[in-house]
Amino acid sequence: MKDKISVLISEDKIQARLKEMGKQISEDYKGKRIHALGILKGCYVFMADLLRYIDPSIEVSCDFLTISSYGDQTKSSGVVKLLTDLTIPIDHKDILVVEDIVDTGKTMKYLLDNLNTRSPKSVKVCTFLDKPSRREVEVPTDYIGFEIPNQFVVGYGMDAAQIYRNLPYLGVMEEGE
Ligand code: IMP
Ligand code: MG
Repeated sequence: MKDKISVLISEDKIQARLKEMGKQISEDYKGKRIHALGILKGCYVFMADLLRYIDPSIEVSCDFLTISSYGDQTKSSGVVKLLTDLTIPIDHKDILVVEDIVDTGKTMKYLLDNLNTRSPKSVKVCTFLDKPSRREVEVPTDYIGFEIPNQFVVGYGMDAAQIYRNLPYLGVMEEGE
């Protein structure tokens, strides 16, 4: 590993929290279907684990879109781009947006505005991480895995210059490496 990375949230803690979130989501969506929309690429590890903690009695379908806002740096460009769109219509569906992290909120705002033009029945947001101190735009966050301070994190789906997504824990890059 090129950079020095320390563990912020362990694999065990992540899994325990996801189990709780899965239970909560299962209660909230009892008798309904969930159409989960993952925001690539950061969501893929979280989404795979979370959906398996949702009660099997609930019908879950999923689709993905790719949004870029960061380029290859650790600072947001502030310019949000839709790189690949959904493959399944969302009208009249109960949508659960699955995101890795809500930071400034710009990505989520852009996405929710976009989704709301497509007549979904309901839209809720589920994010693995929330960095509330960085928020620039108000966005709803219905389910939050962990609130974290203003630190750049990697692992568990999240990257720095496209690497470290495979780490099973959440790590922090140490400064000056
Ligand atoms: P926002 O538009 O500023 O809320 O940024 C959201 C996106 O930036 C997230 O979906 C992440 O992909 C990325 N991001 C924000 N903070 C971090 C971080 O600490 N590590 C890795 N990616 C991050
Ligand atoms: Mg993301």
